[in-house]
Amino acid sequence: MDGNGRWATRRSLPRTSGHRAAEATVIDVIEAARTAGVEWLTLYAFSTENWRRPSHEVDFLMRLVRHAVRKHAPLLHARGIRCRFLGVTDPRIPPSLTRDFDDLTTLTGENRGMTLTVAFDHGGRGDIVEAARSLIRRGVPADDVTEESFAAHLPFADTPDVDLVIRTSGEQRISNFMLWHVAYAEWVFPEVLWPDFRAPDFLECLHIYQQRRRRYGGVTPNTNGEPRP
Ligand code: IPE
Ligand code: MG
Repeated sequence: MDGNGRWATRRSLPRTSGHRAAEATVIDVIEAARTAGVEWLTLYAFSTENWRRPSHEVDFLMRLVRHAVRKHAPLLHARGIRCRFLGVTDPRIPPSLTRDFDDLTTLTGENRGMTLTVAFDHGGRGDIVEAARSLIRRGVPADDVTEESFAAHLPFADTPDVDLVIRTSGEQRISNFMLWHVAYAEWVFPEVLWPDFRAPDFLECLHIYQQRRRRYGGVTPNTNGEPRP
């Protein structure tokens, strides 16, 4: 979810106004994804690198996210969405926010609709390091480590590989997002800034994704069975 700061700056507003405007997009996109039949949606809300931002912006984001989680909990639950939070390990996160994350996770834990993962204080490299630590702690012999068993030690081991990553605002970077799971992801980089992104933009990204031919390093067979380069 990128471009909040630029959205605000273009309007001569403080960056925090861009974050506030982002909330409407989040709700719109969650509903668009659910309605379109997306079963797994992950929103990258705050990275382990975002702690480098000025403390007033970080504090604002913590308060905004807490407010949004509390406000939208009933709706998310009513829609049958299972919510959970990926990351959330830094001691600088206010305990009140961690509690609200836990409350929403518990409230919606039995829901069987879309799984909404909010990556908050998330870093893909950190998750890989944690998986390695977990394997070593359990004394798993080196030769028993496979891609499958390694993935089982990542946080939220039920998370499937990512099919599509959408990064708004025209930036074309991974920025440490779910590095293990994006190995074969398709990428779409809409120019629109996140606060202006709406359900039709999301559906357009899904449409672009549907046009892609995913070969996973292989070849696409022709109808006559001949491989095509
Ligand atoms: C994304 O918008 C929101 C977060 C990372 C929290 P930015 O704040 O990165 O907006 P730009 O990139 O400065 O425009
Ligand atoms: Mg940015």
